[in-house]
Amino acid sequence: MRHARTLNLPDNGTNDVNATISDATRVAIKAGCRAAMSLGTALITGASGGIGAAYAERLARRGYDLALVGRNRSRLNTLAAHVSDETGREVQVLVADLSDRKALAGLESFLIEDATLSMLVNSAGIGAVAPLLQSDVAKMEEMITLNISVVIRLIYAAAPGFVARGKGTIINISSTVAIGPETLNGVYAGTKAFVLALSQSLHHELSGKGIRVQAVLPGPTLTEFWKVAGMPVHSLPSEIVMPLGEMVDAALAGLELGEFATIPSLPHIADWDAFEAARQKLLLNLSHAHPAARYRKQSNKQQLPSRDGNSGKRYQ
Ligand SMILES: NC(=O)c1ccc[n+]([C@@H]2O[C@H](COP(=O)([O-])OP(=O)(O)OC[C@H]3O[C@@H](n4cnc5c(N)ncnc54)[C@H](OP(=O)(O)O)[C@@H]3O)[C@@H](O)[C@H]2O)c1
Repeated sequence: MRHARTLNLPDNGTNDVNATISDATRVAIKAGCRAAMSLGTALITGASGGIGAAYAERLARRGYDLALVGRNRSRLNTLAAHVSDETGREVQVLVADLSDRKALAGLESFLIEDATLSMLVNSAGIGAVAPLLQSDVAKMEEMITLNISVVIRLIYAAAPGFVARGKGTIINISSTVAIGPETLNGVYAGTKAFVLALSQSLHHELSGKGIRVQAVLPGPTLTEFWKVAGMPVHSLPSEIVMPLGEMVDAALAGLELGEFATIPSLPHIADWDAFEAARQKLLLNLSHAHPAARYRKQSNKQQLPSRDGNSGKRYQ
């Protein structure tokens, strides 16, 4: 392992709260390890496996130094060693349970203070497959925390630095369920629709300031996500499941093509463009001083006199 470092962020009291990254440690890492021609540091959540780990390998090969975030220390260390040996890039491991407020605060400080940060990849997330009424509401809240609140807090921490430096990239891993909430669990779909909507708003707000925002909407992808969610991926028809490497390569190709939304499976981008054009057309008609004619007709009918000659009351 040439350029890998492990740092603990406090989580649930299992790690020492004082073990948060000190300025001195960070300076030492930067001074000792930064390889030439870096594209800056890409911080990737959910980097201990699946989509996040695949991003880590590819971004390091493209010239990014990495900060890898997850709970599983040994997986993160193995990936960091492999990536730094293969590419010579600096790789920092940040062990953190993102659902723990103290650990999250440590990570936010890291994002705020690291001026080399050039990319944030929000990949950490969990799913659910059970129908709404058969799923535990407490688990749904945990999912909302990780899939939504954590994403918001990390973006709030990273984006001001990107704006100040006039450059930066935010990649948010949403899902095709964001536009097809009838699939899987409705709360999971809602979290991913949130990620898409937030990304759309950020894209609108930040693209003029030199910031790239990309929402990635994968369909089923071959990772442990399914096992964690309680459905073996092999129970899905193989023709709808994409190999992990192909999915992430397509997402990065979409980034290079300048796409805002990348749906790796979608054969024709014209279909997304038509969907987006329909949304834009709707937007022109969503704010008027009076209700649409069809609703006015309905309410007029309900005010007509009744057959016995008494004047009718509304909404009887
Ligand atoms: N796979 C799919 O079919 C699919 C499709 C559409 C969208 N997605 C989205 O893609 C993203 C990545 O999923 P994946 O397929 O790569 O799943 P995965 O293989 O299960 O990876 C999930 C990652 O999130 C991390 N994570 C989970 N809980 C965490 C916590 N409390 N704190 C910190 N890290 C945590 C895990 O690391 P630790 O266990 O080390 O903490 C792991 O690295 C998710 O947002 C998911 O919604 C996946």
